[in-house]
Amino acid sequence: MKHTAGPLSRVIAVIPAAGIGSRMQSDCPKQYLTIGHQTILEHAIHALLRHPRITRAIVAISAEDHQFQTLPIAQDPRVLVTVGGKQRADSVMAGLELAGNAEWVLVHDAARPCLHADDLARLLAITDHSSVGGILAAPVRDTMKRAEVGQNAISHTVERQDLWHALTPQLFPLELLKFCLRRALDEGAIVTDEASALEHCGYHPLLVAGRSDNIKVTRPEDLTLAAFYLTQLNN
Ligand code: CTP
Ligand code: MG
Repeated sequence: MKHTAGPLSRVIAVIPAAGIGSRMQSDCPKQYLTIGHQTILEHAIHALLRHPRITRAIVAISAEDHQFQTLPIAQDPRVLVTVGGKQRADSVMAGLELAGNAEWVLVHDAARPCLHADDLARLLAITDHSSVGGILAAPVRDTMKRAEVGQNAISHTVERQDLWHALTPQLFPLELLKFCLRRALDEGAIVTDEASALEHCGYHPLLVAGRSDNIKVTRPEDLTLAAFYLTQLNN
């Protein structure tokens, strides 16, 4: 597929925020839990809008969400809101529909409040030399085990060399991402992040080494850690 994304073009951010956060077991969806004076979602959006190339943030929320509109960030003229879908990829697709004719789009989980400005800048810099895009990722540290199918017993150790944790943000030419996501969903591929849609279509997005404190708040114990990392980032 031909696409024409240039080096220092503007970038639209899409933030999927339509999940319910079931593993977090909190009273409200995890993106609305507060750390300091802001919700996790606001920390995530502000981290993106701090970069001058990111001119717009499109937030995909659930149809039952009455909280987003009560946040101060909902009044920011750079922020647009749309209704997300059943799976994360559906929410991202809904956001992409509002992205207009931007050349590059960056997708970032609402549940990742600790994105460091240096990581964001390093990821954005790939538009100088890549026409496919890339993702922030962290090399795996622990020894990795593959379990026997459906059992809590080890089948074998997986070679850790060349194994990475896929993080967000993930950055792609807008038209390429739309094309790949649509095709991957149509063809029933498992799409847990945007890069997997490109992989499904035969592309090889770049791995940009990022900080491992860019965590996704997933389980209750992650909240304390995210709060600690945020105090470090802001000092
Ligand atoms: N997400 C979304 N639309 C969905 C599902 C998830 O926009 N239908 C978003 C979440 O709001 C989150 C991001 O995708 O910002 C990453 O997903 P995850 O961490 O799995 O969040 P949840 O699906 O909300 O949590 P859980 O899987 O524990 O229910
Ligand atoms: Mg989920």
